[in-house]
Amino acid sequence: MAPDLSVSLGPLRLKSPVMCASGTFGFGEEYTDYLDLSQLGAVVTKTITLQPREGNPPPRLAETPAGLVNSIGLANPGLEVFLREKLPFLRRRRVPVVVSIAGNTVEEYAELARALEGTAGIAAVEANISCPNVKEGGRLFGSRPATAADVTRVIRRSTSLPLLVKLPPLFPGLMEVAGAVEEAGADALAVTNTLPAMVIDVQARRPVLGAGTGGLSGPAIRPVAVYLVWQVATAVRLPLIGMGGIATASDALEFLIAGASAVAVGTATFGNPRAMVEISTGIAAYLEERGMSNLREIIGSLRPGGCS
Ligand SMILES: Cc1cc2nc3c(=O)[nH]c(=O)nc-3n(C[C@H](O)[C@H](O)[C@H](O)COP(=O)(O)O)c2cc1C
Repeated sequence: MAPDLSVSLGPLRLKSPVMCASGTFGFGEEYTDYLDLSQLGAVVTKTITLQPREGNPPPRLAETPAGLVNSIGLANPGLEVFLREKLPFLRRRRVPVVVSIAGNTVEEYAELARALEGTAGIAAVEANISCPNVKEGGRLFGSRPATAADVTRVIRRSTSLPLLVKLPPLFPGLMEVAGAVEEAGADALAVTNTLPAMVIDVQARRPVLGAGTGGLSGPAIRPVAVYLVWQVATAVRLPLIGMGGIATASDALEFLIAGASAVAVGTATFGNPRAMVEISTGIAAYLEERGMSNLREIIGSLRPGGCS
């Protein structure tokens, strides 16, 4: 019998642990020629904000060895257009829709969460807290336990939908932020967002990206992301969604063994739109080869390191 790949992220039940990472799959429309969206554990939307955003000036992407630096800057059509023009398409796909949200203030997060609460076809909210808090001089909401807890608590009060909180990659301090977000009522944590990065054109002696700096994703960050997931898994009891450079089933399994209950695939999708489906099949094959009947046997199953 095929292994059971279903997984629970708090109250959110998924038939597969493999989903897309926010911002790398748009709102799903461009991918229907390549895969049946209902094969995915969930579709996580591009982060939406209350008002439409143009995003950062171009260029917004720079390729690096084994990675991609982006400074998209949360370009998105805004809540109203999302609800009117993007959500109906996703609703018809028989896949759980996780809506990623961000705001300039705690109140904006709350308003977004309230608007989604009353809308059919949304399975969960993912709060992207790697965003500047304008009332605190632009420090990221997720950079300190107090502000991360504050925004989580306010969203929690604004919606009964399952609440996922996506953390920034903090060194050090991630465990404290994760603990504060857990206490404030999150149902699951997503780890990690892109790592701060910069690429310089040495001829022009200018940054390559229009915004100057950006976020690194892709295989280059995978060992760091696995480490962060492993670290957070020791600090909280909440289920984790691991991401950062996952391109194959073996990559995904690293995150699951480190303690993630589910995984998200971002940059790899640009080169291989079917990556998520292949990863899901590969995870099932790995379990089957070992006579394992479900994912629980592998999640957090890391053995002590050292020589063998
Ligand atoms: C082009 C691009 C756009 C992204 N946009 C968002 C976004 O809107 N919201 C968000 O939470 N993360 C965003 N991310 C981060 C990804 O969701 C993911 O956390 C990160 O890229 C690491 O995974 P990966 O290495 O598989 O891409 C973006 C990443 C890329 C490459």
